[in-house]
Amino acid sequence: MLIDSHAHLELSEFDGDIEGVIQRAKENGVGCIITVGLNLEDSRKVVALAERYDNIYASVGVHPHDAKSVDATTYDLLGKLSENDKVVAYGEIGLDFFRNRSPRDIQIKRFGEQLELAGELGLPVIIHDREAHREIVEMLKEWKGHSGGVIHCFSGDYDMARKCLDMGFYISMPGTITYRKSETLRDVVRRVLIDRLLVETDCPFLSPEPKRGKRNEPANVVYTARRIAQVKGLSFEDVARVTSENTRNVFRMKAAVL
Ligand code: NI
Repeated sequence: MLIDSHAHLELSEFDGDIEGVIQRAKENGVGCIITVGLNLEDSRKVVALAERYDNIYASVGVHPHDAKSVDATTYDLLGKLSENDKVVAYGEIGLDFFRNRSPRDIQIKRFGEQLELAGELGLPVIIHDREAHREIVEMLKEWKGHSGGVIHCFSGDYDMARKCLDMGFYISMPGTITYRKSETLRDVVRRVLIDRLLVETDCPFLSPEPKRGKRNEPANVVYTARRIAQVKGLSFEDVARVTSENTRNVFRMKAAVL
């Protein structure tokens, strides 16, 4: 059984197709999906999905793109939402210096605030890092309330991976590992122990080969796990078993439905 550790099933790309998505995931051995909030409104939607389906879990938080949407009530409301039993993480939070949809100084401020909030709530974090490797590592180092977490859709090199692992974080691999040009990412996978890796789709984005260009969905996490198995010289079953165990560990989902 596999776990898709990062999906966005609440987005409109999945309207009217959630049952189909879950069905196809099950047929492909993907027993559990963590769906991740991008802002307050979106976080409400992921919690509603998690309440409705046994094998969907939720994470709440404000993505760096939406950092400018945070107001005086946002964190209180997210804290309330996080009291739901199906909420297993805080995020996704972080920095995106590629698109810069919120100003960088606001992204940094909101990221710092949300790290502390996650620590207070006792939730592991899901980190988004795009073209901000150095700043992310620095801020994680300074995080006083460290409650663990994962660097999602990892895009750094082995040196950065090493720094994150040394701070106790897990690393999550997206479908981009199947792309021809992703040699740096495969180098990371080769050198990082399997017991620190998670797999994810980040669907509806980033479809792996051979589904590239189409809407992504949790069932496709099998392509990512298969490629990891190949790169590391492990069996598919071992990659599925260990990455699922890692996901349950980082998100403390001892009783997860699988
Ligand atoms: Ni995401």
